[in-house]
Amino acid sequence: MKFSFAKLSLPASGVLAVTVAADRSLGPIGRELDQKTGGALARAMAAARFNGKKDETLTLLAPAGTELDRILLVGIGKGADLTDLVLQSAGGAIAVQLDKAADEAALLVELPEGTTLSPASAAAEIAFGAQLRSYKFDKYRTNDKKSDKKEPKPSLRKLTLLVEDDGAAKSTFKKLDTLADAIRFTRDLVSEPANVIYPESLADKTKELEQFGVEVEILDQKKLRKLGMGALLGVAQGSACEPRVVVMRWNGNPEADDKRPVAFIGKGVTFDSGGISIKGAAGMEDMKWDMGGSATVIGTMYALAARKAKVNAVGIVGLVENMPSGTAQRPGDIVTSASGQTIEVINTDAEGRLVLADCLWYAQDVYKPKLMVDLATLTGAIIVALGHEHAGLFCNDDDLAMNLTAAGLKVGQPVWRMPMNDAYDKEIESPAADMKNTGSGGGAGSIVGAQFLKRFVNDTPWAHIDIAGVAWAKKDGATVPKGASAFGVRLLDRFVADFHEA
Ligand code: BES
Ligand code: MN
Ligand code: ZN
Repeated sequence: MKFSFAKLSLPASGVLAVTVAADRSLGPIGRELDQKTGGALARAMAAARFNGKKDETLTLLAPAGTELDRILLVGIGKGADLTDLVLQSAGGAIAVQLDKAADEAALLVELPEGTTLSPASAAAEIAFGAQLRSYKFDKYRTNDKKSDKKEPKPSLRKLTLLVEDDGAAKSTFKKLDTLADAIRFTRDLVSEPANVIYPESLADKTKELEQFGVEVEILDQKKLRKLGMGALLGVAQGSACEPRVVVMRWNGNPEADDKRPVAFIGKGVTFDSGGISIKGAAGMEDMKWDMGGSATVIGTMYALAARKAKVNAVGIVGLVENMPSGTAQRPGDIVTSASGQTIEVINTDAEGRLVLADCLWYAQDVYKPKLMVDLATLTGAIIVALGHEHAGLFCNDDDLAMNLTAAGLKVGQPVWRMPMNDAYDKEIESPAADMKNTGSGGGAGSIVGAQFLKRFVNDTPWAHIDIAGVAWAKKDGATVPKGASAFGVRLLDRFVADFHEA
């Protein structure tokens, strides 16, 4: 969608959205509109019991006294409760309500008393929310496209935000729109099916980040063998697709006293059939998004580089396809990881930790980062524990855990810290190797997974974020339409901005 910004004024015609604060309170221009319509706004709000609470909407059609076709009232609540997230959510509601109603619309941005936010930044946040919510992945729908030619399907293409300081709003929005681009890039990667996005093609996609100055290095199978990444290679060996590891470097702060990068590591299983320990048929198509962690890392690197963040960051993604075949690894196989530790593969469906083991080790060994954060759709058990409202956070460092938690809350991507404890290690003791890749029936599947990963991290502050429950939205949300959520991109971007930028 396109956004433009113009001075505050009352449009004479077309479709107009209007912000309304708690207790049905309108701004000066909103009141002018109410008068012009002979009080239709106030009457409609009362009749519909619309109070101006956050996320409430109310539509008036062809109101007398104006040439406007449609007025959309959008609640933003009390001034004191107004946050960026509330405004983004209002933007999302506007996008939904107007999408099928108009090609173009305007929005009157007036804020209530009691807020410290400026109307300009509020307008930018609303536009950002609308941009995020209007994401669609419809490139494969040829039917819709055909009928488009005869009778274009209505969809909102342009929103003009009317606000006091339109110049400031525009420049604030520009930054947010760059982040929205990174999120769209991530969502596209996750939404693509596994016949389109597989290790090699996903690795190729990361090359698009070079346009922002990211250095992209693609490690192929030969190189991975040289590096001794036996855990990752074992997962990949059943697939007709070769694995890849991609290293993305953004050196945004070359003058830093401490030049060590922050490192982000992502699980990129482009399809997880389970391998020989094959999954059931029902819902297996979901496992195309088992590369969500890697897409988040790629999207984060995109966001950081595109806004020229003053940080040194490295993103590392392990890309494999987990398939059953005559060459697939078997339950009971013992693999040697890049760290030298051996792993007995009890269940080939616990593959993410095998991929991450080698990527974490590589990140730590080669880049000596000041901290590492990995993201992975690692366990179904995290959905049992936290559902779809929080990602699971596992961390060996209290400060890092606090900072990630704070960043997540600010951007509406909450994480909940889960315990880690060596007492769980007995779950992964193996009689034959240094460890095995699944627990022994003692429950706590997500924690056991994290304890496994911890063995590939030395003293580096490290966090593991299990995003299995949040990477894909089954229902529409305020700024996330159903489908790929890109969970983690906003979180990590904010984490860097608040805690690691010069
Ligand atoms: N990719 C799955 C985890 C998953 C499950 C993600 C559901 C999203 C939705 C992972 O590779 C997996 O299969 N984990 C197993 C681990 C088990 C074998 C120890 C699981 O959760 O069942
Ligand atoms: Mn699996
Ligand atoms: Zn998986």
